[in-house]
Amino acid sequence: MISYKDLGLVNSREIFAKAVKGGYAIPAFNFNNMEQMQAIIQACVETKSPVILQVSSGARKYANQTLLRYMAQGAVEYAKELGCNIPIVLHLDHGDTFELCKSCIEYGFSSVMIDGSKLPYDENVALTKRVVEYAHKFDVTVEGELGVLAGVEDDVHAEKHTYTQPEEVEDFVKKTGVDSLAISIGTSHGAFKFKPGQKPEIRLDILHEIEKRIPGFPIVLHGSSSVPQDIVAEINHYGGALKDSIGIPESQLREAAKSAVCKINIDSDGRLAMTAAIRKVFVEQPAEFDPRKYLGPARDKLKELYKHKVVNVLGSNDKA
Ligand code: G3H
Ligand code: 13P
Ligand code: ZN
Repeated sequence: MISYKDLGLVNSREIFAKAVKGGYAIPAFNFNNMEQMQAIIQACVETKSPVILQVSSGARKYANQTLLRYMAQGAVEYAKELGCNIPIVLHLDHGDTFELCKSCIEYGFSSVMIDGSKLPYDENVALTKRVVEYAHKFDVTVEGELGVLAGVEDDVHAEKHTYTQPEEVEDFVKKTGVDSLAISIGTSHGAFKFKPGQKPEIRLDILHEIEKRIPGFPIVLHGSSSVPQDIVAEINHYGGALKDSIGIPESQLREAAKSAVCKINIDSDGRLAMTAAIRKVFVEQPAEFDPRKYLGPARDKLKELYKHKVVNVLGSNDKA
């Protein structure tokens, strides 16, 4: 058993409390390799933002659990070396079993999500409560979820949103003891959130109704990539084939971040940024075969994207 505290990580309790009070949200950026981790830490150190390094179960399989632990510890030391000891959380994204959450806690995660959102309500409550009881013994914080987002998460695919029912949140939070709650209010996973002609809309009315019932309780938004159209155009210009990729407008996320929404999950936008940079090198310099020559520009583009998110969307700059 490795405690996240020995790795220099923090859990999410204090940074969420400050974010809710301060009207901003903490970035939760997914990662599974060194360049992504470097870009996240560089961006958050340069903007002095707390950050959540987020790992899906697929990412954990890809990167290896032991390496991830050392990468997270490395991220803490790297941030210090770059000049700012920002709070860093290592968080399991969309944990689907008690065993996975337990294993992550044993390998140094400071926060886990148990996603029982596809289960019947009572089963979601029971599973979430079990994870909370275990996690809290080690001072690890837990995110639960109510309501189902459309889109793809690992192997699970939901065609349509099931919005979170505000009537359920108080009971769920009380019965489970979770530290934060992911809700479904119109965001969705992946780069194809809406079809052309559809109007992207975060249901701020449902969010406000939820906030009324659990005032000041930390709320999480998944599926919050905006799918920047200039990046999609760049990918397609350099030989890509992304059709009808549409995301959540950043102005709506900025609005949500001013409320009790204190964690915003962004993965797809980072994937798009890296892909655009790599495609550009492959097309413009077809003789290049040193991975640093395309992973380096991908890392730089990712860092610029993350800095933009922190400063212009989440408002977490200067909050470290
Ligand atoms: O919510 C899903 C995240 O974007 C993680 O995606 O399961 O493909 O790693 P992944
Ligand atoms: P996006 O696919 O919109 O980036 O969402 C990521 C996410 O919610 C990770 O849990
Ligand atoms: Zn998610």
